[in-house]
This record gives sequence, C-alpha cells and structure tokens, in this order.
Amino acid sequence: MRYRICLTLLLLVLVPAGAWTQQAADGVEPETGGAGTPDGSARVLEAQGRKADGRPVQARDWMIAVAHPLAAEAGADVLAAGGTAADAMVAAQAVLGLVEPQSSGLGGGAFLVRWDAATGEMTTLDGRETAPLAATPRLFHDSRGQPLGFFEAVVGGRSVGVPGTPALLQAAHVRWGRAEWPALLAPAIRLAEEGFRVSPRLAALVERDAARLARFPETRDYFLPGGTPLAAGHTLRNPEYAETLRRMAEDGAGAIYSGAIARDIVATVRNAPGNPGLLSETDLALYAVKERAPVCAAYRGHRVCGMGPPSSGALTVGQILGMLDRYDLSGMGPDSALAWRLLGDASRLAFADRARYMADSDFVPVPVKGLVEPDYLGRRARLLQGTQALDAVSAGKPAFDHALNRADNAAMERPSTSHISIVDTYGNALSMTTTIENAFGSRLMVRGFLLNNELTDFSFRSHRDGVPVANRVEPGKRPRSSMAPTIVMRDGAPVLVVGSPGGSRIIGYVAKTIIAHLDWGMDVQQAVALPHLVNRFGTFDIEAGTRAEDLAAPLEALGFDIRLRGLNSGLHAISVGPVLRGGADPRREGIALGK
Ligand code: GLY
Repeated sequence: MRYRICLTLLLLVLVPAGAWTQQAADGVEPETGGAGTPDGSARVLEAQGRKADGRPVQARDWMIAVAHPLAAEAGADVLAAGGTAADAMVAAQAVLGLVEPQSSGLGGGAFLVRWDAATGEMTTLDGRETAPLAATPRLFHDSRGQPLGFFEAVVGGRSVGVPGTPALLQAAHVRWGRAEWPALLAPAIRLAEEGFRVSPRLAALVERDAARLARFPETRDYFLPGGTPLAAGHTLRNPEYAETLRRMAEDGAGAIYSGAIARDIVATVRNAPGNPGLLSETDLALYAVKERAPVCAAYRGHRVCGMGPPSSGALTVGQILGMLDRYDLSGMGPDSALAWRLLGDASRLAFADRARYMADSDFVPVPVKGLVEPDYLGRRARLLQGTQALDAVSAGKPAFDHALNRADNAAMERPSTSHISIVDTYGNALSMTTTIENAFGSRLMVRGFLLNNELTDFSFRSHRDGVPVANRVEPGKRPRSSMAPTIVMRDGAPVLVVGSPGGSRIIGYVAKTIIAHLDWGMDVQQAVALPHLVNRFGTFDIEAGTRAEDLAAPLEALGFDIRLRGLNSGLHAISVGPVLRGGADPRREGIALGK
C-alpha cells in the first residue's frame, strides 16, 4: 500500500415482492423499486432462497449482511481469506458505490460502530459529510429569507458536503485492517470494468428520477444513456469509477481529498447550473474522520450501543428502548395494539427531545448523558402510563450543566442510504450505515460517483421566533443524522449487529428489530421482516399491504392519526452466539452470506 498523503490528513431481490411489495410513498423519493438481482453464485442463490422462505442464513465462522449480493460476495471473499470486518467493509462499500450508486458511495458519508473481540473495546467513527467553511445559516434560504423547497435545495451543488466515506474506509483499514488495501478495491474495479447487471430496483429508481438525473450531462449520460433510463438486466460499466478506485488503491483516500479528483469535485459543485455550491479545495483538504464516544443505553439487561452526535440515532433509539424497558412488551406480543401504542408514544417523546437537543456536539452543547440517563428515561416513561395515545408531546428536561434556549428542528432526513453488518472470524463485530442522503444524492456525478446532498439534513430554518435551532447550518459543522448503526451487547459480548437505511424512520426500524428479537423472540430474519409501524412526530405510519394493517383500527381507536404507506427499510442484521444468524430485509435486494 502506498499512501502519498499523510495519514493525519486522512484520519482525517431480491425476494418475491409478494406481501412485501411496497407502494409509492408520498413523493419524497422512497427507495422502492422492484425486486430482482443479478444471477448469483450458489451461495447467493441459497441466501436468496432462505430469505424468500423467511429463514436466517446460519454460519459459525464469519458473516456479512449487506444491501446487494455483489457487495456481499466481495465482503465474503475477504472474510473467507482471513480478512477482518474492517477489510470486508471496505470491499463491500467499494462495490455498493458501483451497484447501488443511488444510496451510498465515495461521494457520501457514513458512521461506523465496531466492537473489538481482543480488547472488548467499542469504537465509533464519524465519517459524516461536513459543511463548507463558506456555508452560513442562510444556506437554504431564498432571496426573501424563506426556506427553499426540499428539491430546490437538493439538486445541484448547494447541498453537497465534504464527503467522508473515502477517509472513513481508510481510517478503518489503517486501524483494523489485515488485508492489503489495493486488494480490497480490486473486486469493485473489476466489476466496474467488466460491467454488472442493473437490478430492477436501480432501474426503477432511475426511471422515477429521470427528470432530475437528466439535468447534469455526466449523470444523464451514465444513468440515461442515449436519453433512455437504464433497463434492468443491462450490463453497466463504469470505467471512471474504476479509475478513481485505482487512484485510491495507489494513493489512499487522499486521492479524493486533494489533486485532480478534488479539483473536479469542487468545480462540479461550484459550477452546478442553477444551484451552485460553496465547496472548496480547502474544505476537502481539511476533512477529518472523528472518533466519538459510543452512546449506550440499557435495555432488558443488554447495552444497546451506537453512534452519538452528530447522529441522533443511538440517542433516540436508546431513549425509546430506555422508556420501554419499564413495560412488559414480551407479555403483550407483536400483535398487541397496546404494545405498539407504547412504542409509538415512546418514539414521539424521543423525537421531541431529538428535535430540541440533537445536533453536531462540536458546535452546540448536547446533553448526551442526560438524554439516556435511567432516571430521566424513567420520568419520561411514566408519561406512558395511560391507556390512550398521548394528547400532546414535547421535549423533556434532561440533566445538563448548560442553560439552553433552543427552538425545535423539523429536518427529517429523507429515505435513502444503505447498511452493512459484519462479524469476522476473529469475533470482531462491525455495523456501518452509509449514505449519499436522498436517492442519487445531489444528482451531480464526478469521476464515476455521485455527490451527496447531505447538507439538506440541516434545518433549513436557522431560528424560530428568534430562538436558534441546534441543527442550523454553520461552517464546518456536520448535519444531524438519524443513522443508527448498532451493536447490542450482553455480558460484555455482542449479541446483535443491526442497522438500516430509511431517513428518520431508521430509528423506528432499528428499535423495532431489537424489540422483535429480544422481547418477542424472533430470529433476525423474522425480526427484520416484521411489518413496520413507525411514529415520529405523531402520525402512526403503518406498512401498507402487510398484516400490520390489522392494527390500524385499534390504534386509531386509541387516539392516533394513522397513515398506511410503503415503509421501505433496508435492515441488515446478524445475531451473534455459538451460531451466527444473518437477516436481510425482504423489502430490498440484500442478502447475508456466512461460513
Ligand atoms: N441522510 C440520512 C441520515 O443521515 O439520517
């Protein structure tokens, strides 16, 4: 491995759609799309078969669960050859950026949670995108000082933050890798050169987004060759991506943060027609991956650990579970409207705190400890004691040594993103959620990869009635996320590795999966497949076309506003014990592979 730039800078399905078929949601780019994958190897076909049958994949040595069979194969080959979870993650992410380009890639950001079997240490790395130094709280205001519409802001350069994923890949490899760095990028390079089959899901998403993708020549020529959206089954080559990875193989992630590729990124963002952005070469050169303290919450004798600010993921999942720890969900069971009432209202209370308090803690004080402190969650849990939906929900007052004057933030983080769960042969566990934000990000493409629109995860409003919003745009700040890569621990060892895409619904998807596994005794495949009921700010969203619809009337009778809709998660989970069991979301193309 030959890094030409100093490391300190770098530390800087498919299943039958059937009952699970999702419906187009409410016009905010749900990542739905048909099921179907390229033809696979025997192990891929077997994994797909188990998923279709609702059974987990089982193994004893290692396992990877990820959003596309080709990414799973790349990671599995690394693990089978004695590579670590970090190595496999690099290989899988490099392939995901090619075959699932709408969700994650070199132009995006990610959060990584890792448990080390040798030391027992839990580490979280923040590879979140970062606002340019020239950004101001008015970044998403129009000329009258009013917030822009979502897609007005997204499409073009304004929404693009400094990518974090390349630096995160390298930081993880430097710390925990055993395999040679270039070898980890080789499978993606080969696929990019030889071509891969466009999945029905990618084709469906391209078709739906064709008008936006067509706005920029490089993006149009790749996704709409000759003006026609890519068709499922088409063999797609991406020689520019192969060349970018080759440069990374040679020079490390620094190839993205300085030099010709960095200049291209900056020029593309600043010259985006109609909606230019502010990114500079200095912003790229200054990018740093940050190690953060893990955030853990107690639940049923377990510790549920994940990513703290700038993600709201672990805090909000931890709050929901911490409140519910006082209630007997196991006795109620998954078909009980009372159980879902508790889950829905606990979620509303947690989302109220999220809106008030959670943002990048390098810029605004966040009461991290107070928000998951058992006494505080006990007080919040007492609010759930009635038998009806809570009338009104507002932020609580966690213990904190700062006086705070904060307005609530309504940024929602739209559904896109991807997730990778891995356990390696050494027993290390890794959970990484990775994103370019909206499907196809900013729609700007450079050197074979799409650039993120992550800055739209900031609040478009900087203040409400003169009171500042914690998650307002500031120069060099990281937008609040909902990504919740999670490792659940018991007696000092991991028992569940889990995470999902889905914007701010990620929090509900992950909390539900943990409850389904720990309280309702479901194996990981059953737990990820269990129909979703998600409540964020009040509406109870129920997964359309599933048996969860039976809960709509009882929940309505308890006082909730109900909405039936597609809820397109992308959960990937591994339960850890003498046997590893892998579950992949039947709503998407991913699989688990293990040995
Ligand atoms: N952009 C999705 C998230 O960070 O939650």
